[in-house]
Amino acid sequence: MKNFLSVGDITDLDELVSSALSYKKSPLRDQHLGKNKTMGMLFLNPSMRTRLSTQLAARNLGMEAIVFNVGQDGWTLEFEDEAIMSGSTVEHVKDAAPILGSYFDILGIRTFPSLKNKEEDYSELYIKQFIRYSGIPVVSLESATLHPLQSLTDLITIRETLKEIKRPKIVLTWAPHVKALPQCVANSFAQWVTYWGETDFVITHPEDYDLSKQFTQGATIIHNQEEALRNADIVYVKNWSTFNDYGRIYTNDPGWMLTNRKLSLTNNAKVMHCLPVRRNVELSDEVLDGPNSVVTQQASNRVWAAQAVLSEILKHQAAR
Ligand code: CP
Repeated sequence: MKNFLSVGDITDLDELVSSALSYKKSPLRDQHLGKNKTMGMLFLNPSMRTRLSTQLAARNLGMEAIVFNVGQDGWTLEFEDEAIMSGSTVEHVKDAAPILGSYFDILGIRTFPSLKNKEEDYSELYIKQFIRYSGIPVVSLESATLHPLQSLTDLITIRETLKEIKRPKIVLTWAPHVKALPQCVANSFAQWVTYWGETDFVITHPEDYDLSKQFTQGATIIHNQEEALRNADIVYVKNWSTFNDYGRIYTNDPGWMLTNRKLSLTNNAKVMHCLPVRRNVELSDEVLDGPNSVVTQQASNRVWAAQAVLSEILKHQAAR
């Protein structure tokens, strides 16, 4: 593995999930892999889980991880080629990224979309410019449209949770939220689940909340949430803003929040959410605090997903 931006960068999903689960059993077995290596982690946006779990994963592999909160502490970066930088941006990625490439062996980048310009967000300009100019492997710590470390974690958690079920029914359900949120987690979850292929995958959302078709081929879309939830083995809850009329909130209907009554329609489904979650807006206390919630297990698996990915990149570097 050279870079890690999407499911397209992996060669064998089963192997990657197994690798993550084996690191969960034996976290320090590959401490030699990252010896004398350093990972730079750049955050243009806030994070708790991604930041800490990736730092822990790097440490488990014997690698140092240095975090730089660019959005808070760094110069405002320009990403457009040939930009005339007479506005608010201070440093071009073309100048900054090669320096980072000389400091570090691997670069992790966390960016969010603007939710204003769909074409620009979906071109993944920011992360692609870091790949182009840094000259070292780049790991997405969430990009404008995808969150691959989260999605790998999600599949690890599903595999752990549903050992006995051959072809599980997985439902991704939209939930209300007070802010316009990116489509990244939903896009990425859909991309990874459809790539996996061994599930009945249903996406349920209000009319006009369709995700980009590039990520949902192979999923069944149902606008009636209760119908979608019937016999589900996993319910993945997530809000996203509109894709077609980009970045808007069309509804905040609390009727879309998952409750125990709705959960009773499922096959005693486990409930997932990437966190952070707005309690009693996106997900009810009764579900989050109930026996079906696996959100803490899911978040703790972030370490093993990151460790499996970083180890693949370190092995690729060692083989060159
Ligand atoms: N799920 C997730 O990415 O969490 P953070 O935003 O805290 O990293």
